[in-house]
Amino acid sequence: MKNIKAIIFDAYGTLFDVNSAAEKCKDRIGEKWEPFSNFWRTTQLEYTWLRSLMGRHKDFWQITEDSLDKSMKLFKIKPSMREELLNLYKVLSPFKEVHETLKILKEKNFKLAILSNGTPSLLKKLVKSSNLENLFDDIFSIEEVGVYKPNSKVYDMPIKKYKIKKNEVVFLSANTWDVSGGGNYGYQAIWVNRNRNIFDNLDYKPKYEIKDLSGLLDKF
Ligand code: LAC
Repeated sequence: MKNIKAIIFDAYGTLFDVNSAAEKCKDRIGEKWEPFSNFWRTTQLEYTWLRSLMGRHKDFWQITEDSLDKSMKLFKIKPSMREELLNLYKVLSPFKEVHETLKILKEKNFKLAILSNGTPSLLKKLVKSSNLENLFDDIFSIEEVGVYKPNSKVYDMPIKKYKIKKNEVVFLSANTWDVSGGGNYGYQAIWVNRNRNIFDNLDYKPKYEIKDLSGLLDKF
């Protein structure tokens, strides 16, 4: 890829494993930990889209709590697990290749940033607990524009700050709809297909499909 001025990463699901909170409690939740975790994530995302459409914004942490409460009821998870799951969600594990890949890209002098639905304080904490501090030039949070992905105001943030063209950005997400969002906006979007998923039919084909972030290194 040529003439790239910035490499921008989605956070949840792309850099950080959203299933790691429930997985760390699987001894007590039992086999249903994974469907429960997937339902929590899906509900959380639905709430972001619905709140943006309704014009009733709540921040990502409140949405994470609201979606957890619904999921715990549905999966009959003991109410005493609530605090633990939420605390673990604040320190989600990074995927194993993340640190090394970012370090190599940083050494190549690319501008690196996060662009996420998370609040500034959540993202700062995640970056710190994963030892990824000093690798990012910026952490862009949707709180700055008050609407969730895939609204174009979100993808506009780095373009405005860096004064670069949309196609000078490589955007990476493991969330298919976020790849479609960034790609339709005008980024060169790459799909991190961690779970051998099927891509969406939303008017955009990813520039590349990679199975984890290390697949990015031979693209420059
Ligand atoms: C984020 C969600 C989409 O980090 O995973 O923005």
